Amino acid sequence: MSDKVIIFDTTLRDGEQSPGCAMTLAQKRRMAKSLGALGVDVIEAGFAAASPDDFNAVASIAREVKGPTICALARCNDNDIREAARALEEAEKKRIHVFIATSPLHREHKLKMTKEQVIERAINGVKLAKSFVDDVEFSCEDATRTEKDYLAQVVEAAIEAGATTINIPDTVGYTTPTEMFETIDFLKKHVGNIEQAIISTHCHDDLGLAVANSLAAVEAGARQVECTLNGIGERAGNCALEEIVMAIKTRANHYGLDTGVRTEQILPSSRLLSAITGSVVPRNKAIIGDNAFAHASGIHQHGMLSHPETYEIMRPQSIGRVDTSLVLGKHSGRHALVDKVKELGFDAASEDIDRIFADFKNLADRKKHITDADIEALVVGQANTG
Ligand code: KIV
Ligand code: ZN
Repeated sequence: MSDKVIIFDTTLRDGEQSPGCAMTLAQKRRMAKSLGALGVDVIEAGFAAASPDDFNAVASIAREVKGPTICALARCNDNDIREAARALEEAEKKRIHVFIATSPLHREHKLKMTKEQVIERAINGVKLAKSFVDDVEFSCEDATRTEKDYLAQVVEAAIEAGATTINIPDTVGYTTPTEMFETIDFLKKHVGNIEQAIISTHCHDDLGLAVANSLAAVEAGARQVECTLNGIGERAGNCALEEIVMAIKTRANHYGLDTGVRTEQILPSSRLLSAITGSVVPRNKAIIGDNAFAHASGIHQHGMLSHPETYEIMRPQSIGRVDTSLVLGKHSGRHALVDKVKELGFDAASEDIDRIFADFKNLADRKKHITDADIEALVVGQANTG
C-alpha cells in the first residue's frame, strides 16, 4: 500500500458551507491559489449546480489553478453532474465527486428511497460522471450510520460503475476512532473490488473527533483525507488540514506516511482564510493558534532555552511561524527575563538582574501584557513598578 496520503481540501466547498464563511468569487480564487502553493493534491472548488456564483468559482479555479486536481461536487442527478463537468472543462486535472446518502435515516426521511433505488442512483451517477472524466469520486453520505453490509454493497457497485475514489464520510461527526477503523477494515475485507479504488475519509467535528477519526481511517488503510483549513465547515467544522498534516508529519515514526503539503505555507494560508472570512482562530487552536508555540511558565521557558524539544514537538518554522515566543508574565522566571534583556541589546552581565527581576515580578502582578518597552524601562530603572 502506498505511503502517500492524498490531501483533498474542501475549504472552498464544505468549509464555505459554515455559517459566516461565505466567500466571494475573487476571495475563492485567491484562496485556491494559496491552497495550490500549500501543495494540496485536490481542491474541491465548489458545488457547480448550487448557484451561478458557485459555477463561476469552479470554472475560474479550473482555468487558473494548475497543479492540484480541481474537483466539483454533484448529487447523483443528471443536471448536477453535467454542470460539474461543464464547470471543470478547462481544468488541467479534473475530478467529479458524486454523492448520495446511504443511511436508513436519510433513505427514509430525506430521500424517500429504498436501498435498491439508492444503489441504482449511485451507479447511474458514477457512470454519467465517468462519461465526462476518468477521475470519479463517490461518497456515501452519512456512511458511519449506514448498515455495514449495505455500505459494502453500495461501495462495490460504485467501484464497478467506475469510481476511482470511495469516500466514507462521517457526515454528522458521530463515529469514534475505533469504530472508524473497523468500518474501513470491514470494507477492505468485504468489498471484492476495493483494491481498484482509493479509500477516502471525510470527518466532521461534532464530538471533537474529526482528526482522530481521520487518522484511524488512515491507519486502517484510507489513503485520502478530506479536510479544511482552520477546520471550518458545517456546524462544528471538518477535519482541520493543519492538524492532520502535522500529525502525519510529526508522527511519521508512528504512521510511516507522508503528505505532499509544503507545511511552511500552513500559517500564511490559514491567516489568509481568517482574514477573508473574518473568522478568528482561537488562541489555543492546535498548530495555528497564537498560543500554539508560546510558553509562559518559568519552568517551560527555562526548558525551551536549554533545548527546544523539551516542550515543543514541532518547530514553529515548519508551519511558517517566525519563532517560538517566550511570553513574559507573572509565571516567567529569571532565564526568560535575562534572555529578553539580551535580545533587547543590553549587556545582561553588567545589569543588576536581581533588582530588574524583582521589579519585573511586581509589574507582572499588575499588568497582563508585558511589552519590550516595559522591559527596557525596567532595565534603565524608570518603570513604575510600585
Ligand atoms: O459531510 C458529508 O457527507 C459531505 C459529503 C457531500 C461528502 O460533505
Ligand atoms: Zn461534509
